Amino acid sequence: MTDTRALNDNISIEQSGDIALICINNPPVNASGLLVRQGLMAAITDLNATAEVKVIAIYAAGRTFVAGADIKEFGKPPVEPFLPDVFNAIEASSIPVISILHGTALGGGFELALATHARIGIEGLKVGLPEVNLGLLPGAGGTQRLPRLAGMAFTMDMALGGKPVNGATALEAGAIDRLVSGDPRKVALSAAQEVIDGTLPTRPTGSLAVEADPDLLEATANKLRMKQPHLYSPHKIVEAVAASVKPLEEGLQIERAAFLSCMDTPQRAGLIHAFFGERAVSNIPEAKGDTRDIAKVGIIGGGTMGSGIATACLLAGLPVRMIEVAQDGLDRGLATVTNNLEGAVKRGKLTEAKKDAALAAFQPSLMMEDLSDVDLVIEAVFESMDVKRDIFGKLDVICKEGAILASNTSYLDINDIAACTKRPQDVLGLHFFSPAHVMRLLEIVQGKDTAPDVLASGFAFAKRLKKVGVLAQVCDGFIGNRIMNHYAKAVGYLVLDGASPAEVDQALEGFGLAMGPHKVGDLAGLDIGWANRKRTADQRDPADRYATPHADRICEQGWFGRKTGTGYYDYSGDRPVPNPAALAIIDEIRSELGITPQAFSAEEIVERYITAMIVEAVRVVEDGTAKRPVDVDMVFLFGYGFPRFRGGPLHEADQIGIDTLIARIERYGTEDPRYWQVPALLRKMQEDGETFAGLNRKG
Ligand code: 3HC
Repeated sequence: MTDTRALNDNISIEQSGDIALICINNPPVNASGLLVRQGLMAAITDLNATAEVKVIAIYAAGRTFVAGADIKEFGKPPVEPFLPDVFNAIEASSIPVISILHGTALGGGFELALATHARIGIEGLKVGLPEVNLGLLPGAGGTQRLPRLAGMAFTMDMALGGKPVNGATALEAGAIDRLVSGDPRKVALSAAQEVIDGTLPTRPTGSLAVEADPDLLEATANKLRMKQPHLYSPHKIVEAVAASVKPLEEGLQIERAAFLSCMDTPQRAGLIHAFFGERAVSNIPEAKGDTRDIAKVGIIGGGTMGSGIATACLLAGLPVRMIEVAQDGLDRGLATVTNNLEGAVKRGKLTEAKKDAALAAFQPSLMMEDLSDVDLVIEAVFESMDVKRDIFGKLDVICKEGAILASNTSYLDINDIAACTKRPQDVLGLHFFSPAHVMRLLEIVQGKDTAPDVLASGFAFAKRLKKVGVLAQVCDGFIGNRIMNHYAKAVGYLVLDGASPAEVDQALEGFGLAMGPHKVGDLAGLDIGWANRKRTADQRDPADRYATPHADRICEQGWFGRKTGTGYYDYSGDRPVPNPAALAIIDEIRSELGITPQAFSAEEIVERYITAMIVEAVRVVEDGTAKRPVDVDMVFLFGYGFPRFRGGPLHEADQIGIDTLIARIERYGTEDPRYWQVPALLRKMQEDGETFAGLNRKG
């Protein structure tokens, strides 16, 4: 006879004879929130007091086993029972407990399995310890029990890399005991029977010993100091894994203390903001609803951008027709796409066979008329309104009814572009970031006439390309470039006023940027910014202080950065060094302008940079270019290399505090009152005691 009873909304027990199944059911991903923890604790206690039960099997309903602790609970006061205590109770159960894992057994979910006495994986399984991505470490036994099953090196890879491995790899490492196929409940029943029959061995993980590996620990700690100096939790992971050689209870205490210390860091808050932010940007009405089918894409322009976009589409399995005006442009496009795909093969992202299939789906053409059958066209030619007008006028004639017409413009007005067609409702901006097949940001720019299904299709397309689509309204530079153009001026002023480009770069790298702005400029080519400055020269207000005369003069020498061997840095030696000739130009300009150079500390450089960024970010939210602060944050994390552990400029603004920000802007404003102005929204937030997190919650 089978007896099924629910202990609460998330946990039920199904008992038939000597077998008891515990089912976890907490959609969508069975996170181990309070009810799961309470229910599991109660189930283990109950079943241990039930005389006839000889084995307990834990499985989960729905699409996955437990995908971790409930991240939404982090940062709030913890409520008992705590996860480690529940897992310790499972391990201490006098009745053997096995776990059946399907889908993604991650973090606390994998740790739950590690505390059981045997683990059966179901084909398609992925297991992982992704806590490091959230600024945490596995805090419910993962750093102690996984080394006992699979060794320290495997644990270190899993916990520091944060990437899941598949079932076969987990099996080979000893992290799971079997990999089978079937429905989780049925597998649970048959595996439980095997435990009773003695054909599936069980044992508490804590009974196993860990082989010490001091060399690995030292090498890993050294590597982290070099490669991840800003991050806190990876260093704590090494400490916790090192403790796995101690008796389990002692190791668990060390792990717990390390976990709690990570929980207290701003990095944890920043990384969790990034986790939810990545999902929040498409959790808006504009991204939902009907979409148009996109089965074939046309791309106009075979330059770096067009080829990168083509590569991204091909990687997503979409056939691409690329249009260029001349054969050499088309040849270059094909060569770049081929090179990008080969790079993906080398990085292990693509198999040789998939690369061949992608190349077979790439159709270069010199005839714009060949776009008559595509569902989406992305124009990626250089930034000239005249050229774009001409292209969209032609597309209007050539493209089939219902085709989506997109421009990859970085600055130009989508409404002006749409006005060249008789179907402005089909036009939107799809702004990619270079290299387009790597960078995950896609700004989805809504024109005034863009149809709702076209906008929603933009989001669906971003998802298909595994990109983070962020809604932006039309303005010069949309969200990202508009903000960048503003804070780039602050960088220019810092240099004009006395900081060297290398000092600025070093300070900002200390803040967490992968590369300082002058190194980035040298890498991208200083001529790009120069061309843009020339294009917009007539829009400059002469009353504004010009920020980059030195950059112009450096470009006038033909020094465009890496590609010419010189820019802000000199690339002729083994390592780039500050270019003395560029420093001389900066000095020359300072004396022409009568500037007496002043010294800036690294802290002051960072403060001015981030404050300038926040000021324009606030304006972007204020005028509705970005829907919410979180949209700005995700643009900067996924498109501009803003340090993820800081959550984004407006998450950082909350950490700095509105009072401090306003005081800073007013102080800088005494030097340059035109540039440093307090945005009205910031003042209002100060009056209301509002935060950017609060604005996000209001939506
Ligand atoms: N807690 C709370 N909510 C979670 C969650 C979690 N651990 N994992 C996912 N969710 C939510 C998402 O926010 C999303 O909510 P929404 O629909 O309202 O936007 C929903 O579940 C579905 O998630 P995805 O959109 O990401 O769905 P996918 O199918 O693309 O991916 C997944 C599923 C692979 C499980 C992915 O969500 C994921 O990687 N989740 C995070 C896993 C994780 O980091 N676990 C470790 C947590 S920390 C921990 O366990 C500490 C322990 O050591 C003590």
